[in-house]
Amino acid sequence: MDVTISRADPARVAAQLEGFARLSEPGSSTGVTRLAYTPLEREAHEAFAGTMHELGCTVWTDQAGNTIAERSGDEPGLPALATGSHLDTVPDAGRFDGIAGVVAAMETARIYAEHGIRHAHPIRFVAFAAEEGARFGQACTGSRIVSGLTTVDDLYGKRDADGVSLADAMRSVGLDPSTVAEARWTPDEWAAFVELHVEQGAVLESMGTPVGIVELISGSTRILLEVTGRASHTGGTPMHLRADALAAAAEIVLLVESIAGDPRHRGTRATVGRLDSAPGTITTIAGRASLYVDVRDVDSDRQRDTASEIIARAEALCTRRGVRLSSTLLADTSPVMLPAWLRQAVASTCAELGLDHRIMPSGASHDAQMINNVIPSGMIFVPSRDGISHSPEEWSSPEALATGVDVLAASLLALDRLLLVAPEQP
Ligand code: GLV
Ligand code: MN
Ligand code: MN
Repeated sequence: MDVTISRADPARVAAQLEGFARLSEPGSSTGVTRLAYTPLEREAHEAFAGTMHELGCTVWTDQAGNTIAERSGDEPGLPALATGSHLDTVPDAGRFDGIAGVVAAMETARIYAEHGIRHAHPIRFVAFAAEEGARFGQACTGSRIVSGLTTVDDLYGKRDADGVSLADAMRSVGLDPSTVAEARWTPDEWAAFVELHVEQGAVLESMGTPVGIVELISGSTRILLEVTGRASHTGGTPMHLRADALAAAAEIVLLVESIAGDPRHRGTRATVGRLDSAPGTITTIAGRASLYVDVRDVDSDRQRDTASEIIARAEALCTRRGVRLSSTLLADTSPVMLPAWLRQAVASTCAELGLDHRIMPSGASHDAQMINNVIPSGMIFVPSRDGISHSPEEWSSPEALATGVDVLAASLLALDRLLLVAPEQP
């Protein structure tokens, strides 16, 4: 690719992001809400499919609801190179998490089409379904399915806050959960995958570095802690006779924070992102409370040890307070090290483009983490303003994103050349 002419257009990137941001649940918030396996998520996939079709790609949707657009290659029989990310969001999200990677894929396809760029391998542009764990607790459902990491049983077991299972949510948008095994990717059909994503941290911005290349993606252990106390009258019940589930839960929130902050857990991030209590009235002591705990780490032992310590110490705390605790594992994903040769290919591309880069870990989960189980995967990070994400304030400038697209578009072509001469990378 002639890097002097084939650059991404920041205005076009911004316009695509704006278009997807409009596909949001109506409400008073300024953020975007487009949850996994909802009609709005499907609408976003249709918009992606329409654009990719116009760009000359062959487009299809798999049994998991992932949308795949293929630009054919010149050499018959070669496996595909791929790029993409997700189109679903957390509730009240920004417009960049996931969507930036899909828009980057669209812009890459547009650059190739506009400049008549040819490649030997087919290149597939992928919009994954249901990446966010916000609705069902499990992240990366679409990419887990294609990687063989989610079974049909899981789809019946994971439920949203209204009790709707993943399987039923899939059915409600016209997908058949019993057929997901057919969506599996195989290495004879797919060669490598590169995902562009916003950093969701403040490292690149604070270092003034335009591009991050991800080395290691954090794992995540998600636990539901349910506290059972005794509901009773807030006026009639003396303080010493209470079994207040919400007070115990409040102490658990602080316990989680302090365990993660302990120097023994350096690097661990542990959060209670959701706390529900029942009956939830001002005049009744809470009889029940549910805490959703997310433990993230790039060190898998430390991740699991931290989760176990949280459960053990929360149990002791509940015993002391005269309430009961039960714990349920909602999801457990290991950290993933991405292949060095692929990082190197992206790093060399940055050098060719005259761009500085930084090799770095990812604190968030990503589709690339799952896809790497089947085919070698890499990730390109673009700076996030103030490191904010999963919030309407999430922001990456169109220029920064366009720079990331330049790296992505050129990296895929570099991989195309590399894998042609040396298809068996270590
Ligand atoms: C995905 O956004 C995650 O929760 O890491
Ligand atoms: Mn994401
Ligand atoms: Mn996210």
